Amino acid sequence: MIRVIAIYPGSFDPLTNGHVDLIDRGSKIFDELIVAILRNPEKDPLFSLDERLEMLQAMTLHRKNVRVDSFEGLMVDYAMRVNASAVLRGIRAISDYEYELQMALMNRKLEPRLETVFMLPGVSYSYLSSKLVREIAQLGAPLTGLVPAIVEERMKAKIS
Ligand code: PNS
Repeated sequence: MIRVIAIYPGSFDPLTNGHVDLIDRGSKIFDELIVAILRNPEKDPLFSLDERLEMLQAMTLHRKNVRVDSFEGLMVDYAMRVNASAVLRGIRAISDYEYELQMALMNRKLEPRLETVFMLPGVSYSYLSSKLVREIAQLGAPLTGLVPAIVEERMKAKIS
């Protein structure tokens, strides 16, 4: 029997309820889902890699076929190292499509054995992004319903 391993790559800075929704959906269709946090030395993230790993691990503990990891360099190289045959990405609105299409086609050029699978998050998350969450948190807006409680607490602590 073929086991389909997928990776769900991203920055997750911070993890939002939209990401959690996509992880839940992906874990139902793939045999194994690896949430892969990009280690990007050029970016100055709000949460360190360890903090993001910890929060993602806490939020995915109940899903036995989900694990959390990090990677550096080309995503397709990482995918091949962990024997993934699919990469999961979310499309919230048509505005995401152009960038995601470009990335998926470039990844296909780099590694034709890897398929990109797009899933739609719940409509209530269609306007949600890590960037907007960071911005409104810094300006003191409540984050309830936008990010998991563990992320909300840590963001409050970081910003205050
Ligand atoms: O959270 P994001 O910014 O939507 O995630 C983007 C990510 C991490 C999936 C993308 O930047 C990526 O895959 N980076 C790794 C480097 C790479 O493979 N670049 C070529 C992309 S075609």
